[in-house]
Amino acid sequence: MLKEIKLPVPDVSGDTTIEENIAKRRSIRSYSNTSLSLKDVSQLLWAAQGITSNIGFRTAPSAGALYPLEVYLVAGKIDGLDVGVYKYLPDNHSIVQTIEGNINDELSIAALSQPQVRDCAENIVFAADYSRATAKYGKRGIRYTNIEIGHAAQNVCLQGVALGIGTCTVGAFDDEKVRQVLRLPENESALYILTIGYL
Ligand SMILES: Cc1cc2nc3c(=O)[nH]c(=O)nc-3n(C[C@H](O)[C@H](O)[C@H](O)COP(=O)(O)O)c2cc1C
Repeated sequence: MLKEIKLPVPDVSGDTTIEENIAKRRSIRSYSNTSLSLKDVSQLLWAAQGITSNIGFRTAPSAGALYPLEVYLVAGKIDGLDVGVYKYLPDNHSIVQTIEGNINDELSIAALSQPQVRDCAENIVFAADYSRATAKYGKRGIRYTNIEIGHAAQNVCLQGVALGIGTCTVGAFDDEKVRQVLRLPENESALYILTIGYL
């Protein structure tokens, strides 16, 4: 039985405006060495796919509300959290550990040795189970899922700006290697990596 870790309750207001966050967002590829707080990690995961309605709708839109995305936290330097890989469970706003130990080196190699993937405090990796969307929409479900990743990733980037956290979206990686490094289930494909750390 995997141990579930409840995350701090996310905030729904902040000190910056959405306009400021949009204006300031940049891809940031080097970070301070400071560990991320669990509160900020919680906020970023919520921005990605948190539940924001009493019928289970989430922070990012989803075609037919089918939610084909899965979110993995590759934890490096996070206060109070063991190094390892965790899966985000939106319904409980919690995480469960899927891999113990540091996989940042392997993940970086799978991402064409991009250094920010190795050196950041955490990576968020978006995976997708396309079948959830293609079962209803056929081939068009693939397009819908790929669009949806953009919505979710942008939420994380803008939330990061509001918290003084830098992010870089990474699409250049070997799909199969990332799948293997993260030990994703057969039905999930790795689609997008976000490298994350304090400015
Ligand atoms: C789909 C996609 C894939 C990207 N892949 C990478 C990547 O692999 N490595 C990287 O350093 N930046 C990557 N980027 C970030 C772009 O290089 C960056 O957005 C662009 O240079 C504009 O800079 P800005 O984000 O600061 O506005 C990617 C961006 C997108 C949208």
